[in-house]
Amino acid sequence: MDVVMADDRERWALVLGVSSGFGAATATAWARAGFNILGVHLDLRGTLPAAHAVRDGIAALGREVRFFNVNAGDDEKRAEVMGAIGELFAERRAAGHDPYIGAFLHSLAFGTTLPFIATPERPRTISRKQIEMTVDVMGHSLLFWARDAFEAGFLARGSRLYAMTSEGAILAVPTYGAVSASKAVLEAHVRQLALELMPHGITVNAIRAGVTDTPALRRIPGWEKLILASERRNPGRRMTRPEDVAEALVALAVPGTHWMTGNVIGVDGGEVMGSLEGAGEED
Ligand SMILES: NC(=O)c1ccc[n+]([C@@H]2O[C@H](COP(=O)([O-])OP(=O)(O)OC[C@H]3O[C@@H](n4cnc5c(N)ncnc54)[C@H](O)[C@@H]3O)[C@@H](O)[C@H]2O)c1
Repeated sequence: MDVVMADDRERWALVLGVSSGFGAATATAWARAGFNILGVHLDLRGTLPAAHAVRDGIAALGREVRFFNVNAGDDEKRAEVMGAIGELFAERRAAGHDPYIGAFLHSLAFGTTLPFIATPERPRTISRKQIEMTVDVMGHSLLFWARDAFEAGFLARGSRLYAMTSEGAILAVPTYGAVSASKAVLEAHVRQLALELMPHGITVNAIRAGVTDTPALRRIPGWEKLILASERRNPGRRMTRPEDVAEALVALAVPGTHWMTGNVIGVDGGEVMGSLEGAGEED
């Protein structure tokens, strides 16, 4: 039988975007579920105390925790983090443990919200460098982190990889053009990695969250309207919360999901079904 039922290995989770939003909530929930946590984030002085609070909260749960404050889109920084994880795992092995990354989350929010076409209100348009940087960090970086972790031997049979996507992958939303492109790329990478990692017993899925009030959302021009639209059309009659996604990811990062791969899994209270809310209603 191909099902991994018991896991005697030491379970670690790697979370990219660990200091806020879905990343912070999921790292905390995975720590509660027994994972030690490796986290990557990008914070300057203003938001660093919040990042430290997330790290300290995980440590208070009695788990091992290492955070790296680096740009996840930078190849050299990624190599440094991989090297540090390698050293840490070697120490754990020397102490008689068998560490591996059992759960991985890509939850990076980094990019530009400039329009493609100028309007009198928004005359500045997106540059080639800006769209490339957005798609690189929010899309392509999944491939490079996943591949490096696999080649270093940190991923193994039973590892569960997840990446945060949004309805923007298939819908056009004003001011969201570069992020939409990233999400389309991210979902393509999820499918491709799922295809190429399944022979190794490793699964890869995208999580499509509903609109959620996080610092990233508040950087999108017109975010107040997104919140109102989400509250109106969500059959759950509220917005999604980071904890909704974190709880789903605890439920999913288990051996029993070993045959689920290459999917886009909605965790949105059914928000996507409410896109035409109002249409067809009786007066
Ligand atoms: N908020 C929403 O409504 C929503 C809905 C669906 C999907 N998403 C997606 O979820 C993901 C996380 O978004 P969030 O709302 O939790 O955002 P957030 O702003 O709360 O958190 C973003 C995290 O990414 C980190 N980060 C940003 N750029 C980085 C970089 N270059 N290198 C390393 N770390 C970096 C930040 O430090 C932070 O920890 C994003 O991919 C976003 O598109 C968000």
